[in-house]
Amino acid sequence: MNIIIVNNYEEMSRKAAHLFVAQLLNKPDSVLGLATGSTPVGMYKELIRFYNEGMITFKYATAFNLDEYVGIEKEHPQSYWQFMQDNLFVEVDLPFDRQFIPSGTAENLEDEAHNYDRRIAKAGGIDLQVLGIGRNGHIGFNEPDLKFEARTHVVKLDEQTIQDNSRFFSNISEVPTLALSMGVKTIMQSRNIILLASGKEKGDAIQKMLSGNITPELPASVLQLHPSVTAIIDLEAASRLDIEALRDQYKIVTPK
Ligand code: GLP
Repeated sequence: MNIIIVNNYEEMSRKAAHLFVAQLLNKPDSVLGLATGSTPVGMYKELIRFYNEGMITFKYATAFNLDEYVGIEKEHPQSYWQFMQDNLFVEVDLPFDRQFIPSGTAENLEDEAHNYDRRIAKAGGIDLQVLGIGRNGHIGFNEPDLKFEARTHVVKLDEQTIQDNSRFFSNISEVPTLALSMGVKTIMQSRNIILLASGKEKGDAIQKMLSGNITPELPASVLQLHPSVTAIIDLEAASRLDIEALRDQYKIVTPK
């Protein structure tokens, strides 16, 4: 794993966007794995800027999102479908029929999950997956558990995740309690992964992800096993790391 420590959120967003731009320039028909949450918003803004400058096109790309809430319509203001429209898709030229997000209102969620994995496989797998991290170490909506779920599946959201995500809803009782999420195997099969973390509330999860055991109780820890991860972490999220001790295990770049 490469670890790039940056000064702040803006720098994290810019560096992440550069990796995306490189991916799209190298392979215009890339299969992109996209994430929601506050963390990648700045990166999407940068990507829109690069697109408007004529540096990149999404015309040939395909995108698969990590997850979606169960039980809210895609047009709901807090659905991840709507998030992607608002934060990226309406601004760029990614064809509508190549914007994939699992449907949380599908009649049969098991079928939806299964078909989602089939669609990813048919597209050739994910070239570049972007991940945020939950305060409890979740990736996508793979919550801490006693085992890793391999494939796209229905998840019961953790109390902490419901609490954390309630800031986007008018009332905590409106936060869905279930979601569909790509599984850990699908994420781990991505050829390249960028993990982004910003803010001191992520410090504990980042410390455990990098220094702790590989365990489904801290789902992001599985990334220690992936051959091509770049973690871009701001100083606050990195505040609990013993950087010198981690240099044995990771390639680390720190701010100048
Ligand atoms: C959400 C998403 C994750 C995201 C995480 C952190 O619930 N399902 O994909 O990475 O929680 O969110 P944020 O970036 O807002 O801190």
